Amino acid sequence: MQSRICVLPGDGIGREVTEQAEKALGALQDRFGHSFDLEHGLIGGAAIDETGGPLPERTLQVCRGSDAVLMGAVGGPSWDGEPWEKRPEKGLLDIRKELGLFANLRPAVIFRELAGASLLRPDIVEGGIDLLVVRELTGGVYFGEPKGREEVDGSRAAYNTMRYSEEEIARIARVAFDSARKRGGRVCSVDKANVLVVSELWREVVREVAAEYPDVELSHMYVDNAAMQLVRDPSQFDVILTSNLFGDILSDEAASITGSIGLLPSASLSASGLGLFEPVHGSAPDIAGRDLANPLAAILSLAMLLRYSLGLEREALSVEGAVAAVLEQGYRPGDLAREGEAAVACSRMGDLVAAGIRESVSQ
Ligand code: IPM
Ligand code: MG
Repeated sequence: MQSRICVLPGDGIGREVTEQAEKALGALQDRFGHSFDLEHGLIGGAAIDETGGPLPERTLQVCRGSDAVLMGAVGGPSWDGEPWEKRPEKGLLDIRKELGLFANLRPAVIFRELAGASLLRPDIVEGGIDLLVVRELTGGVYFGEPKGREEVDGSRAAYNTMRYSEEEIARIARVAFDSARKRGGRVCSVDKANVLVVSELWREVVREVAAEYPDVELSHMYVDNAAMQLVRDPSQFDVILTSNLFGDILSDEAASITGSIGLLPSASLSASGLGLFEPVHGSAPDIAGRDLANPLAAILSLAMLLRYSLGLEREALSVEGAVAAVLEQGYRPGDLAREGEAAVACSRMGDLVAAGIRESVSQ
């Protein structure tokens, strides 16, 4: 099978971690006889420096002509003071909108051998953490109009609009219910319906969609309570369905309670099946270019790419299996190495995972 993958390394450690994911792709070619056609593009600060803007037209064209997009990370201190049009984050928001990537899937899983890395007490993580945040990604207060700044009688004010149409709510709800069917069969929809009228509609539409899924259990939770429940008893959650802003916050919280943000992948999917896959961690400029980063989230993002955009489940499992095996063997990337443990370099982690994928040939 021939698949076209667009790779957007971006900024900071984005480059080195996507390189390791490419090694895994190379191993998959050898192991399963696929042919992956890779094309690279610019996004974020790297694109600003080269072309003046964070999302060049060529990048969009390459993405549209591909089956899937693998991204590294965007951002860094050198662009922080720039106007919004010249900010790496703008490239990320624009690519989501342009490619219609409305469904953001962020699994938070605790690996057995890394339970000690969780920030939570051992008795709280005992029940395991295996949840999926399904975050709406192209609507809500991130994109709502009107927005702006104004000055009234010499006093500054600014505003955004949190807006959702019923179609936008229904389509993300379906993604959550479909995901729950393949997992634990439970959806917890998170909103702020005790205060926001947009959340009232959210709840109403989610209930209507739930009627199509009698086999999935639906509950609702206010976002402040959800933030608390995530640290009090994370094992109660299966799928968390929520809006753009709440999902941004809760997915970081969910990531940090697993203790290993360097392990967490994400998928952003469109209605057409084209998806963008990226690690949840950022560009980590402080360690960039020093071969210190943890490439496993990027490699696990590749596994999601294989599963969701290319329909290659066996190959996805082989990548995930190789990552788990490397961890089981005791190899620890920099962010997971404890006192006294030798940290394994980014490039070496990539080599180990690729070797693991190739080795599975002889089994
Ligand atoms: C994320 C990030 C982005 C977001 C930023 C970088 C625009 O925090 O992907 O969660 O807020 O969506
Ligand atoms: Mg975020």
